[in-house]
Amino acid sequence: MPNRIPERLVAESRVIMTEIVLPEDTNHRGSIFGGRVLALIDKCAAVAAIRHARGEVLTISMDTVEFRNPVVAGQILILNGWINAAFGSSMEIEVEVRSEDPSSGARDLTTRAFVTMVAVDENGRPRRVPGLLASDDDEARRADEATRRRTIRLQNATSS
Ligand SMILES: CC(C)(COP(=O)(O)OP(=O)(O)OC[C@H]1O[C@@H](n2cnc3c(N)ncnc32)[C@H](O)[C@@H]1OP(=O)(O)O)[C@@H](O)C(=O)NCCC(=O)NCCS
Repeated sequence: MPNRIPERLVAESRVIMTEIVLPEDTNHRGSIFGGRVLALIDKCAAVAAIRHARGEVLTISMDTVEFRNPVVAGQILILNGWINAAFGSSMEIEVEVRSEDPSSGARDLTTRAFVTMVAVDENGRPRRVPGLLASDDDEARRADEATRRRTIRLQNATSS
């Protein structure tokens, strides 16, 4: 009999992270280092993946990341992360980063990233993760789009 792992809902692994941008996070112009944002994206995606896999995960890829608006010291960063799709051992996690003006509360989309994480066992080898249950049309659409991105990602990985 197949050993099926019960599927999990997108909502079960959703992550919201909030950070304040400090002077040490910024360059000489006062705007945040891209690498700092990437580290936060990686952390947010890892928490979502750990919640879904209920175990250790490793980052295997991060798609192109575009920084749309500069973020400066004193602003608040809000990261929202969720699983778009779970495949065999890998999961695509989408992370949206918004900056919040501390005075007005106005929020701007700073960047969006697609991160692929692989669940690993105690020997660091890939292990199967639970399937992802879409609870509405939007989640089902995100899963389809993630599957298409995965095909392109794997083609690019093997052709390089
Ligand atoms: C993650 C790791 C254990 C995977 O081992 P591997 O031998 O490459 O495993 P596989 O080839 O079987 O691939 C594992 C999964 O990754 C997926 N994958 C492989 N290359 C990928 C890529 N470039 N982008 C996205 N997914 C990829 C595979 O499709 C597979 O997913 P699936 O099980 O859902 O089909 C290994 O690559 C590793 O340790 N990498 C370093 C991770 C790390 O240290 N990250 C921190 C930043 S340096």
